[in-house]
Amino acid sequence: MTNIKTLDTPTLLLDHQKLLKNISDIADFANEQGVSYRPHIKTHKSVRIAQLQVEAGAVGITTAKISEAEVMAAGGIKDILIAYPISNPDKINRLIQLLKKGVRLKVAVDNPESLGYLQRGLEHTPFTLEVWIKVNSGLNRCGVEPGKEALLLAKAIMTHSKLKLGGIFTHAGHSYAAKTYEEIESIGLQEGLAVVESANACEQAGIPISVRSVGSTPTFKIAGKVPGVTEIRPGNAVFFDAIQVGLGVTNFENCAVTILASVVGVYKDRIIFDTGSKSLCLDKGAHGNQTVSGFGEIIGHPEVLIERLSEEHGIGVFVQETHLKLNDKVQIIPNHACTVVNQFEEYVFHENGQVIDVWKVDARGMVK
Ligand SMILES: Cc1ncc(COP(=O)(O)O)c(C=O)c1O
Repeated sequence: MTNIKTLDTPTLLLDHQKLLKNISDIADFANEQGVSYRPHIKTHKSVRIAQLQVEAGAVGITTAKISEAEVMAAGGIKDILIAYPISNPDKINRLIQLLKKGVRLKVAVDNPESLGYLQRGLEHTPFTLEVWIKVNSGLNRCGVEPGKEALLLAKAIMTHSKLKLGGIFTHAGHSYAAKTYEEIESIGLQEGLAVVESANACEQAGIPISVRSVGSTPTFKIAGKVPGVTEIRPGNAVFFDAIQVGLGVTNFENCAVTILASVVGVYKDRIIFDTGSKSLCLDKGAHGNQTVSGFGEIIGHPEVLIERLSEEHGIGVFVQETHLKLNDKVQIIPNHACTVVNQFEEYVFHENGQVIDVWKVDARGMVK
């Protein structure tokens, strides 16, 4: 048995029990509500973790990028929503390759012009592509407006022989900008209503919408309870992180990912760790909201605040006296697990401080 404290640093650690608990908490919620679970894998980028989610009952996965979908499909995950608008002909060819491999693919659409590109790309193939309408529930990123605009796009999809409308979805990422938990609750409710209202408008016009999908980690347990919602897509909730704790969504005990770091310098007024922005990343919140005070939470050492990062140095200041000394190793809960994981080649899985396995971050760096 290898103790994690003997590992070289920095190392990406994943607590096996916490991972399994987080996955089963989401799956249990989905079961209780009678909704499907389609996790966003941009958080873990790991085929084996996606497989654990499928074993726990996930109907498939969500990706942002085609390259993430390609890695997951090669690893045997066959039901994939690419929740990203795609109009570029070269990218459409890559969608066709996935269809050829038997992937049950769904792709986001949010404007009539892109329908033409998809139709032309598919025209000389035997395939029909399932598309899901993305509605804007307040994030003001991609998406048609709920209701009338969603219905107009649904009608346009019906006129394209190579496209099949499978669902309507939204992502309330603006929940990360909420200043209070009440605000998160209100955003979650709006998120659910945006898809249900859009689906109802379509169904009243005779266009059936079987999937109505919602989900961000702060909101999925709120939006997932709105009557008429059929699916949740949390990503970060598989690991959680300090930003989620700052938002009041979870607590530090549930955070499954940590970075093992070493003390490389101790000075009168500061302490230096071998983890800078290339491992801990600079995120302190999202959408203009800062929910944390430093650059990661050092487990068991609240007396040290990681105040600044350069690329390979984390500079801590003393809130109180510390006994940390040169070569000591600490575990740091990152502010944003999704960006931090993308910096590492592999996860070291551990249980009670003992290494049990090493898993690749398979889709690391897959941004195309
Ligand atoms: C379309 C979509 N669905 C789901 C998610 C998951 O969000 P979270 O990581 O907050 O759970 C995201 C995150 O970016 C997203 O863009």
